[in-house]
Amino acid sequence: MTRLTRRQLPALVAAGMAAPALASAQAYPSRPITIIVPFAAGGPTDTVARLLGEAMGRDLGQSVVVENVGGAGGTLGAQRTAQARPDGYTLLVHHIGMSTIPTLYRRLAYDPINGFETVGMITEVPMTIVAKRNIAANNLAELVALVRRERDKINLANAGVGAASHLCGLLFQQAMNVPLTTVPYRGTGPAMNDLVAGTVDLMCDQTTNTTEHIRAGTIKAFAVTTNNRVSSLPDLPTAAEAGMPGFEVSVWHGLYAPRGTNPELVTRLSRALQVALRDPGLIRRFADLGTEPVPQEKATPAAHKAFWTADIARWRPVIQAAGQFAD
Ligand code: MLT
Repeated sequence: MTRLTRRQLPALVAAGMAAPALASAQAYPSRPITIIVPFAAGGPTDTVARLLGEAMGRDLGQSVVVENVGGAGGTLGAQRTAQARPDGYTLLVHHIGMSTIPTLYRRLAYDPINGFETVGMITEVPMTIVAKRNIAANNLAELVALVRRERDKINLANAGVGAASHLCGLLFQQAMNVPLTTVPYRGTGPAMNDLVAGTVDLMCDQTTNTTEHIRAGTIKAFAVTTNNRVSSLPDLPTAAEAGMPGFEVSVWHGLYAPRGTNPELVTRLSRALQVALRDPGLIRRFADLGTEPVPQEKATPAAHKAFWTADIARWRPVIQAAGQFAD
């Protein structure tokens, strides 16, 4: 019988401890996975997460369900994920808010940057300037003139400080040089219901939430905030075409896991994400809603991390200059 030497011990212990992690990584996933959406159901982030979850579930061999944790501009859902067990069964779909929140919020109960592992980017969604359908304007120039004339009567819906609709709304007010009363919601899903009902006046929201209402004529649209028109709304001019050059914003989305999630699980999830983004059904539905998957090389943990880090640095001086902090 051979006696173990002291030097052999740590390797064996490590192997012993690694064995269950390796076994669990190989058996992963063995039960449904939850994607936290930090906004209300029925909105643009919810739409992206549900389509993605369905396609990823097919590759992972487990169902991927969405849980909506809306409120506080998308920070409550992010906090829930950052504080979840890092076992690969709780994920987060979030957007450009992950770049603005670290500067906008100074007193969060979680680390808005180091609380997460990046899994990969998903899509980049154009935004649209929309209004209730009976607003007394038929193009962007008329809308801006109306807002300037009736600034005390017109309000602007958004999904809270740090949301994409908040950020785009800020840029729109700056472009018009008119501060407006804002009406916050837990997401632009419920805000859209009030826009259709005519109880709020304006909103800047993602094509994934506005396209079908614009086509149906239940809301009015004035411009898309990208360089080029979107194929799903060919008649809608860009903001530049409509007389507001330089007003460009689109909403990138990414998939995250809690900090400390086993790198092998993150790699497995990133692989499932890449497969999902090649799924013909997902691609068709994204196109119908005015967007498309990111290129495969962006759907990786490293590329996502690099993009996110640069984007935080891009928005920090803008927010600090505006002095618009959430707390
Ligand atoms: C939502 O899903 O409600 C939106 O993404 C909110 C926003 O950021 O405007």
